[in-house]
Amino acid sequence: MPHLFDPLPLRDVTLRNRIALSPMCMYSAPDEAAVARGEAPLAGVALDAHLVHLASRAAGGAGLVLTEATAVEARGRISPQDLGLWDDRHVDGLRRVTAAIRDHGSASGVQLAHAGRKAATYRPWATAKGGVPDADGGWPVVGATDAPFNDALRAPSALAADEVPGVVAAFADAAARADAAGFDVAELHAAHGYLLHQFLSPLVNDRTDAYGGGFEGRTRLLREVVAAVRAVWPEGKPLFVRVSATDWAPGGWSADDTVRLAGELASAGVDLIDCSSGGAVPGIAIPVAPDYQVGFAERVRREAGLASGAVGRIVAPAQAAAIVADGRADLVLIGKQLLREPYWVLRAAQELGVPAPWPERYGWAVG
Ligand SMILES: Cc1cc2nc3c(=O)[nH]c(=O)nc-3n(C[C@H](O)[C@H](O)[C@H](O)COP(=O)(O)O)c2cc1C
Repeated sequence: MPHLFDPLPLRDVTLRNRIALSPMCMYSAPDEAAVARGEAPLAGVALDAHLVHLASRAAGGAGLVLTEATAVEARGRISPQDLGLWDDRHVDGLRRVTAAIRDHGSASGVQLAHAGRKAATYRPWATAKGGVPDADGGWPVVGATDAPFNDALRAPSALAADEVPGVVAAFADAAARADAAGFDVAELHAAHGYLLHQFLSPLVNDRTDAYGGGFEGRTRLLREVVAAVRAVWPEGKPLFVRVSATDWAPGGWSADDTVRLAGELASAGVDLIDCSSGGAVPGIAIPVAPDYQVGFAERVRREAGLASGAVGRIVAPAQAAAIVADGRADLVLIGKQLLREPYWVLRAAQELGVPAPWPERYGWAVG
């Protein structure tokens, strides 16, 4: 069976090991207020803070370093301080990031995202909570439905069917910019109650047009986005999709739906399903525990025959190694533990008794 530290070949990209930095919003890009102060040409540009954060995890040995949710449209930002790729002027800052990641031996990945009805929220440590009003730098938001996520967030307007192609094109344009910025991997964010998940979930999608109804209708937007992105994303570069594998609610999106979708996406040019869960609707109890989402990744690779990623409460090297060795996932994504400990991967290698993926300029001295 493969080892956590075996390389993972995906198309023309080979990850040096099977550990990825999970996408995590840093809420630290310039917003409109910073632009007005002359600090940036536009909102959403990558700064030194992003470069240091992401390159640190590359120096720390990760096989793949994924960016935070990076907005394909300005109105699709979760917060005013999200990274973006909706404008050509976003490319240069991210090119510096991908070059730094590569210099430290990791592959780079971008998570392309649209928050839909969960857009325009205050960042978590702001004093104010919920939706940002226009007067404080917020904006009108769109979604799969007119219904708000909850009373605290802004009420969306449902995308009209003839507005959907614009969203599909925004994903494709952002993917083309991501390629220009030098990313090796693109991941579409179809999880956590953001726009693509809003269309997938029967708990949210109340549409009566071609993008609603049964499985085919609810998955149509994601399938169109995959096709449009695959058409511009180079053949040799892998494409991932992050899903919420279950809504954890009766009548919601289910693990069976995820396996069925994975089978369709495999033939549409998707290389890996990154299996998270939840977020479509509020008030759902999620049984968070070590490995609590690994079973979804296992089902995708065993039943749909597509590579999968496991994420969620994976904190111990032996735990991560077992997930890969037992054939439950091809890639392990680490979130909060890599915030606590940027060099976790180096420690994991030492604990597991394999050569640590030191950057060359350290390895000759300490390896
Ligand atoms: C600060 C923070 C920001 C996050 N931002 C994103 C994001 O931008 N995109 C995403 O798909 N998941 C995001 N997540 C979820 C993580 O990628 C991960 O799936 C989750 O934290 C569970 O993994 P963990 O237990 O290893 O942290 C975020 C999590 C945290 C803690």
